[in-house]
Amino acid sequence: MTHVIDGNAVAQRIRDDLSENIDTLEADGTTPTLATVLMSDDPASETYVSMKQDDCEEVGIEAIDIEIEPDAPAEELFETIERLNDDESVDGILVQMPVPEHVDQRAVLRAIDPAKDVDGFHPENVGRLVAGEPRYKPCTPHGIQKLLAAADVDPEGKDAVVVGRSDIVGKPMANLLMQKTEGGNATVTVCHSRTEDLPAKTRQADIVIAAAGVPEMIDGSMLSDGVVVIDVGINRVEADTEKGYELVGDVEFESAKEKASAITPVPGGVGPMTRAMLLYNTVKAAGNRAD
Ligand code: GUN
Repeated sequence: MTHVIDGNAVAQRIRDDLSENIDTLEADGTTPTLATVLMSDDPASETYVSMKQDDCEEVGIEAIDIEIEPDAPAEELFETIERLNDDESVDGILVQMPVPEHVDQRAVLRAIDPAKDVDGFHPENVGRLVAGEPRYKPCTPHGIQKLLAAADVDPEGKDAVVVGRSDIVGKPMANLLMQKTEGGNATVTVCHSRTEDLPAKTRQADIVIAAAGVPEMIDGSMLSDGVVVIDVGINRVEADTEKGYELVGDVEFESAKEKASAITPVPGGVGPMTRAMLLYNTVKAAGNRAD
């Protein structure tokens, strides 16, 4: 039987644990606080930010919700970040990506105080991760490590194939999987759009992490029996539903499930974990403030 990994359940356990930590911080006079900044009218980004706000409320993190018009000058965003950097009551700052084209995304990431960078995207935090001394692990790959652990999958000694080389998922995932610490010690291959013969690579994998952002690009014919499949994709594809679309992953679920020993669904797999780890990083940031 294939184990369909329930990301909602694992995320709930993480939120429950965090609630206890938050109560302790509160008792010491620190209210963990996350500021989200949205400079976009993309409906998916709007949904993600509002879900992050709801999550904060559930666990007792104070959420500050800042929206900037997508056609506002870039300075407005940079001034907002500066103000939040200087505000001692703010522990974490999340600027929802992507930002509009007239705003330099890399400059935005550099502008955030690395100590408040709960996404883990600032170059200083990326460097620390690669050096093996992470401050904030990026939320999606960290959440995937927790999912694997919850499913009793230890990457040590396994062949892990990461499909996708984004700064947000692919690169940090590969780094975490090869680190000498728990949840790492895998032999890691990173595949991407220029990879020749992707099926040959994915077929030799014990663990496949699909994070390319291409709907259902990996199917059962590309997988070996017993593989563990983690599907990071959240793709909106047109469908005859009330909303006019449905969400599909980067993995063709039904055929992949035939081969997999464990697999994450979309939705309800990686997505809830990404959000839970953002809360985790925010509480960690607040803990540093309280120290
Ligand atoms: N856009 C898509 N995923 C993310 C994320 O994890 N953090 C931020 N800030 N923006 C995103």
